[in-house]
Amino acid sequence: MIRFIEDRQEKMKISREVLEALTQWFEVEESREQYIRESADQPFWAAFENDVPAGFLCLKQTGDATVELAVMGVKKEFHRNGYGRRLFAAAKDYAVQKGNSFMQVKTVRSGMYEDYDITNEFYRSVGFRELEVLADYWDEANPCQIYVMNLKSAIGTIETRHSYRGRFSEKAVPREDLEAIARCGIDAPSGCNKQTTDLIVVDDKETLDKIKGLIDPPVAQTAPAMIVVLSRRINAYRDRCFATQDYSAAIENMLLAIVELGYQSCWYEGHITDDDRICDKIAAVLGVPDDYDVVCILPVGKAEDDFHAPSKKPFAERVRFNHFEGR
Ligand SMILES: Cc1cc2nc3c(=O)[nH]c(=O)nc-3n(C[C@H](O)[C@H](O)[C@H](O)COP(=O)(O)O)c2cc1C
Repeated sequence: MIRFIEDRQEKMKISREVLEALTQWFEVEESREQYIRESADQPFWAAFENDVPAGFLCLKQTGDATVELAVMGVKKEFHRNGYGRRLFAAAKDYAVQKGNSFMQVKTVRSGMYEDYDITNEFYRSVGFRELEVLADYWDEANPCQIYVMNLKSAIGTIETRHSYRGRFSEKAVPREDLEAIARCGIDAPSGCNKQTTDLIVVDDKETLDKIKGLIDPPVAQTAPAMIVVLSRRINAYRDRCFATQDYSAAIENMLLAIVELGYQSCWYEGHITDDDRICDKIAAVLGVPDDYDVVCILPVGKAEDDFHAPSKKPFAERVRFNHFEGR
């Protein structure tokens, strides 16, 4: 189990317990104590097995859109259990959610010590790329390898997108961000380029409140902005209508743009297009003409609550190569 820890004393207790069990990596007492002290004021995740801390990870903000994986450690007896990966995934989600573009991490370069070779392998396996080696950053025996990760690559954003149904911060979403998100929506592919999807971006509080008041049971009640997705059932050719595919592509593009810009959202379609037809009531509030359907709403805002990736079936259960039975 991975937990975000906020209490300073608990952070220092966990970091001490883990780092003192990992003296092959954290040999110098002075720097170990510094890591422990600094951990108290950093975003901090701990992995637990039966309430026993197995490992932890801290982030440090190093620039307005850059963050450093300041320190991480997993006790040796818990290695190869996926704790490192899960700690990293939680920290990466958080860094993206806070609008960061890059993450760096420093370690001793590969080829010096076996234990650090494992560390290097781990960082590369989660997606870090070599940036530079600084020979005298620490000392001659410990050349410093800097790794960097682009948090805004398409694949990285896809990996960190999850449906968010928690509370949003009240902070308004700037128009330029809403425009960028909407542009990604209308840039999506559409069958025969019929462009059957239109959008209404709602950031006016009075209109937002009217829409929120229609949503029962309530969802997205704290969102400072919302994108209402409209679809027109225009045939692409003969009797083939791809309007559903068109708006699905537009929605996914927007969900990814939302995450990349540091916001969160959820694809609310089932909820508003059910028998009670909340979608038609929203259409009436927004003056949507009859030949358009409101098909989905996407809240947009900064997340105030934690959220977790839902479990997905294993890769091999859903992806095959060359033949359904696998060859
Ligand atoms: C067509 C469609 C309709 C959806 N409608 C709703 C909805 O009405 N309410 C909701 O909470 N989530 C809705 N979702 C979000 C899914 O529940 C969510 O994508 C799924 O549980 C997987 O989680 P993930 O998005 O975090 O990967 C919808 C998703 C799709 C693709």
